[in-house]
Amino acid sequence: MITVIANLKGGSGKSTVAFNLAVWLERNGRKVIGYDLDPQCTFSDLGMLRREIGNKPDIEIHSVRAVLGEQLMAHGECEVLVDVGAANMAAMKEAMATADRVLIPVPPSQADVWATQRFLHIVSPDMEVVRLNGRHRTMAFVNRADTNLSIRETEETEEALRMLPGIDEVMPQRLKMRTSFRRSLSEGLAVFEMWPRSKAADEFRVLATALYPEVVGQMN
Ligand SMILES: Nc1ncnc2c1ncn2[C@@H]1O[C@H](COP(=O)(O)OP(=O)(O)OP(=O)(O)O)[C@@H](O)[C@H]1O
Ligand SMILES: [Mg+2]
Repeated sequence: MITVIANLKGGSGKSTVAFNLAVWLERNGRKVIGYDLDPQCTFSDLGMLRREIGNKPDIEIHSVRAVLGEQLMAHGECEVLVDVGAANMAAMKEAMATADRVLIPVPPSQADVWATQRFLHIVSPDMEVVRLNGRHRTMAFVNRADTNLSIRETEETEEALRMLPGIDEVMPQRLKMRTSFRRSLSEGLAVFEMWPRSKAADEFRVLATALYPEVVGQMN
């Protein structure tokens, strides 16, 4: 399956989610091919850091300026994860037009809802083609949700996302704001490798399992 992780706004957690998903899938016995279409190269840098440190399993992540649809589809049974950035819109659109689904992390704020709306508007002609093929899904979820339950922004953001044309599903599996995501990345590790019993790890596993329900293995 080809999953593109996308959103216009920087810092929404695309690379963090792509990297953690890649490690989770590999550790659960799936072969992953990652493509990093963002000139910032965070996703591929994380793969390289992981290799340099010697963390296993190794994750194959290619840093490329563009990727053709046929190239993505050629991976057949592998799980393909594509991290994209707003700096390379042409490559983003090409990847999205080939994807089976687009996963959109959204921080909980009105500004992020607007940015997501704009993003969906910009890519909608490309998405419509794919939607007609009946293959495509867009799934949004809140990343960096507040840990304080009395703060209403997360619910409000989910509610606003549900109203946006172009989103097929607002996933209820949120990731909260946890410093362990940042700290594990700097060690080339997924959060559930560094702190397997942390809340961040639990939340991430719930999200990953919802995205890949057929993958059930030692990390669950
Ligand atoms: N749930 C979270 N809790 C805490 N920190 C997070 C969370 N998700 C992401 N981060 C941190 O926020 C920063 C931005 O995340 P990331 O680089 O994944 O975003 P991005 O969408 O890929 O950004 P860009 O558009 O610049 O590529 C990173 O330092 C990352 O570790
Ligand atoms: Mg990134």
